[in-house]
Amino acid sequence: MRTDYSLAPAEVPVHEPAVLSDTQRALRKDEIRDRLDALDAVLVAHYYVDGDIQDLALETGGCVSDSLEMARFGRDHPASTLIVSGVRFMGETAKILSPEKRVLMPTLEAECSLDIGCPPDEFEAFAAEHPDRTVVVYANTSARVKAMSDWVVTSSVGLRIVEHLAARGEKILWAPDKHLGAYIEQQTGADMLHWTGACVVHEEFKFQALMDLKNVYADAGVLVHPESPAAVIGIADRVGSTSQILQASLELPNDTLIVATDPRLFHQFRRRSPHKRFIEAPTAGDGATCRSCAHCPWMAMNELDNLAQTLDRLDNEVLVDPEIGRLAMIPLQRMLDFPKP
Ligand code: 13P
Ligand code: SF4
Repeated sequence: MRTDYSLAPAEVPVHEPAVLSDTQRALRKDEIRDRLDALDAVLVAHYYVDGDIQDLALETGGCVSDSLEMARFGRDHPASTLIVSGVRFMGETAKILSPEKRVLMPTLEAECSLDIGCPPDEFEAFAAEHPDRTVVVYANTSARVKAMSDWVVTSSVGLRIVEHLAARGEKILWAPDKHLGAYIEQQTGADMLHWTGACVVHEEFKFQALMDLKNVYADAGVLVHPESPAAVIGIADRVGSTSQILQASLELPNDTLIVATDPRLFHQFRRRSPHKRFIEAPTAGDGATCRSCAHCPWMAMNELDNLAQTLDRLDNEVLVDPEIGRLAMIPLQRMLDFPKP
């Protein structure tokens, strides 16, 4: 087993989404609306995808949410086709929970550094060395890794589920995000053994640069996704999943908020709190040419063009081996059944 499963820079794609004119965007959106209707399909989108796709999902009766609610929404919606706009593990989760539905994605190349950094064979060997531990994996993993776990969690419920398991005296084997794992361990005091993956996007946030920015905006509140490093989490006013961050942006009294997560979530901040000012948390120190590069390149691969194309060609279908799907459904179902706070 390696000591670090973070990706090397060369493993992270650079993706520049196409820039469409207003007329092209309006045309594409009309096409997509028509096709969704004709196909009995519903659009299930994550907060990190293009704002036009987020709007389309909401306008057509789909959803825009964090990964937990995407899973729940896709499972419960009666449409026969789910169009999942996000990254691959989100499409796989939808397919596992609804094997009878057709699940399509604008591209099958939208991966996740945490999923890539947790190869199933190596994970299997790691878990086999620790049979006494309850295996808890983050949703940002492949179907095969989920199939080897006792529980799947997302960032919105991970802390509460581990707290519950620790209270039952269970020792945890956690994978793959080392920052989220360390945060949960610190908050719950659970006995946790960690895989060492990281999100290439959130890992970039820098403590000192954030402190400097806080000094410039003295009245700003700080919102942080728990895939970020501990020092950054340590100065947050609220830590949570994308939907919890969104909720905090409504609840906190600050007119200015500095946010450590992918800035495509700002689309929803601006819809709901147009009077507030949202600032991207910095990813680099003084002298760097890029002050904030925390944009997930895989989420950016979801574009109006490839979404329209998928609806036309009915390609990019997400398939999961039925036996893997059956096994992965068990820990996913446990998460979905876990009582809400
Ligand atoms: P959420 O569950 O908070 O939406 O997070 C998913 C994710 O990939 C964050 O990087
Ligand atoms: Fe994965 Fe990070 Fe992108 Fe989320 S932001 S999908 S954790 S690479």
